[in-house]
Amino acid sequence: MTENHPGQVLVRGASLLGERSADLLLTDGVISEISSEPGSLSAPGARVVDADGLVALPGLVDLHTHLREPGREDAETVLTGSRAAAVGGFTAVLAMANTSPVTDTAEAAERVHDLGRAAGLVDVQPVGAVTKALAGEELAELGLMARSRARVRVFSDDGRCVANPRVMRRALEYVKAFGGVVSQHSQDPDLAGPQSCCHEGELSGRLGLPGWPGVAEEVIVARDVMLARHTGSRVHVAHASTAGTVEVLRWAKSQGIAVTAEVTPHHLLLTTDLLTGYDPTYKVNPPLRPAEDVEALRAALADGTIDAVATDHAPHARHDKEHAFVDAAFGMLGLETALSVVASVMVEPGLMGWSDLARVMSTTPAAIAGLEGQGRGLEVGAPANLTLVDPSASHTVDRAASVSLSRNNPWHGRTFGAAVQATFLRGRPTVLDGVLV
Ligand code: DOR
Repeated sequence: MTENHPGQVLVRGASLLGERSADLLLTDGVISEISSEPGSLSAPGARVVDADGLVALPGLVDLHTHLREPGREDAETVLTGSRAAAVGGFTAVLAMANTSPVTDTAEAAERVHDLGRAAGLVDVQPVGAVTKALAGEELAELGLMARSRARVRVFSDDGRCVANPRVMRRALEYVKAFGGVVSQHSQDPDLAGPQSCCHEGELSGRLGLPGWPGVAEEVIVARDVMLARHTGSRVHVAHASTAGTVEVLRWAKSQGIAVTAEVTPHHLLLTTDLLTGYDPTYKVNPPLRPAEDVEALRAALADGTIDAVATDHAPHARHDKEHAFVDAAFGMLGLETALSVVASVMVEPGLMGWSDLARVMSTTPAAIAGLEGQGRGLEVGAPANLTLVDPSASHTVDRAASVSLSRNNPWHGRTFGAAVQATFLRGRPTVLDGVLV
């Protein structure tokens, strides 16, 4: 029996990581009690959440989110993106630096951090740019961002590749001093070419669309793992998309090189043949690839060669996305649907269990980003960041129902088997019954 405690939440009968059922008591932001006999905990005055049949996971952590504020508040804001994250089961997101202005100073990073705090739905952790204005030449204020209130640890010019190997080397050396990591958008700009808009292959030729080959990604991944070895620093491969990248990662890990990698939900399920209708919803960077790449990415996520899933949630206003394919912006929404997609591709076919999903969508991304208080186990004393998933909630995605400001949703009309039911940030429900509290 526990004392009456306002703000307590009693989660009844959840299946922890899809395994044993338990009651969880959330008090003052932490998991204060766990009972393996469902129904046995009681807490007078606590809000009771019936989690019978639901799977409890640590709150999801997204290494790769575009929130668009400052600069493109017509596409997303820190608040609307935080809403989408909470609905998707996330308790922390890393906000990419390609805003306007770019997050390349301590002040800019603190501003994003503070906007996240004010929104209060997920921990918004700014990613710092590697180079000033993402121009690829001069290093941004890496040390000042790291020492700022925002405690930046992940640096990326995402949207652009740090193409110059000398600049990449210096960035890796610099971030090593404070345990930072460079998250690279691996794409050789000369091999990709300025007009390219899809995967180069037989289909791009038939459609008359300029494409870029998988090797444009692979040569940068190969170069960067050698730079990571040389500098003894950490490199992270953002949105790995090809079987060749997986081969390089497998080799680098076998050598003990400090490389980690993420894959997006869309690269785990969607393939380049969706482009036959020239629908710009499917235009994304890196591009959708053939089925062989998708297979290799799934296998790599299952065997640990790829460490994490990250959404690359990339909201775009209608007037940027609804164009001829070659002219439309790159990117697709991902926060609200990530869990459902990954469950359908990896858990439902038996490639991974729920505990593996927790590892790739919470524990490991939190560790890569150095987020203390996120990605912890479901254990007494851990911060009460958690997500409840209904593993048998067949539902069809409707882009109009999204809480994002944008509508570039590639999952519209698709049916998935699992859905996020509830999200708790430090014990406070942000989502219950699938809707924002
Ligand atoms: O598709 C993408 N969209 N890929 C990126 O790397 C950047 C992102 C964006 O900012 O829209």
